[in-house]
Amino acid sequence: MTTSTAATRSLDFETVFGGPPTVTAQAPGRVNLLGEHTDYNDGFVLPIAIAQHTRVAMRRAPDNVCTLYAARLGETVCFTLDEAPTEHFASYVYGCLSEARQTGIDVPALDIHVSSEVPMGVGLSSSAALEVATLRALRELTGAPLDDVHIAQLAQRAEIEFAGVNCGIMDQMASSLADTTHALLLDTRTLARRRVPLPRGSAVLVLDSGVARTLAGSGYNQRRAECEEAARQLGVKALRDIDTVASLDALPQPLRRRARHVVTENARVLKAADCSDPAAFGVLMNASHASLRDDYAVSVPELDRLVDLLQDHAQVFGARLTGAGFGGACVALCDSKALQRVAQEVLAAFSREGFTGRLLVPPAAGA
Ligand code: GLA
Repeated sequence: MTTSTAATRSLDFETVFGGPPTVTAQAPGRVNLLGEHTDYNDGFVLPIAIAQHTRVAMRRAPDNVCTLYAARLGETVCFTLDEAPTEHFASYVYGCLSEARQTGIDVPALDIHVSSEVPMGVGLSSSAALEVATLRALRELTGAPLDDVHIAQLAQRAEIEFAGVNCGIMDQMASSLADTTHALLLDTRTLARRRVPLPRGSAVLVLDSGVARTLAGSGYNQRRAECEEAARQLGVKALRDIDTVASLDALPQPLRRRARHVVTENARVLKAADCSDPAAFGVLMNASHASLRDDYAVSVPELDRLVDLLQDHAQVFGARLTGAGFGGACVALCDSKALQRVAQEVLAAFSREGFTGRLLVPPAAGA
């Protein structure tokens, strides 16, 4: 059963459900510093958590109906655990409950309240934050023996099975295990990981290009298929198993270019993880953008322009598109004392060229 009603916006749990929640949990969005489109190739990634969180409050429902209220949308959706709701945002939550059930967790019907500060649709993993926060709240409510890696794995499965995105595990691992002061160096094949401090004197800036990621779904799945085909033709399990670009010579185009991005990007991540010099780290970010633009073909002119403006700024060490691409956000490593100035100057220049960008990280005060 699925019913949806447009309710008044941003009500709190008590107002919606007439009593307090039993548990509340939260999880952050993430921005990927380096290692784009490598996770579904068993490769390496280097994301970091952002300050914005998604919060999920829940309690057991009085009957067998789950009621989900999304404060940002002002929408309520009702469903039972036996039938997936059709509303897109609800499918993430339902997917998590359903995956948890399949692992043997006794999931009761729930009253659920979701609120989020994580910007949506720009590549900062608002969906992973929702999934991880949902599973954390469920763990607390039921006492289920789930560790943080297990939560990330269930969240990834929920996204693949119920939201229809054939994603890697980076976003869910970052939301579940990263913090805002260290990047998470993750080997997506083994899930081995290490916390990596940001290079001395640097901080992370994220700007939205204002371009909607309309092609992200289809383009993403196509790139993924190209990588799988390249690995098949090379006779390896995944492109992670290729170390040198010379090994790619036998591939036809565009597979050779796609594979070259993955091979060179993995090398950049491993190099960056040992970089204490922000300038050297920045050079790797700039090279990553060029590779995503030229070899992987997931950039758009507006992203290229915003990245150029960032890279040209004296207080920026390096910049690139972040997330799946086809629109969305850019990430820059900046002098930590100049973040606001860089944001203002670059956004002003972007706007003089007729584009509308905005500051996403660090979040504006009161945002
Ligand atoms: C999306 C996916 C991730 C990853 C990135 C690209 O964010 O969810 O798994 O593949 O794109 O690096």
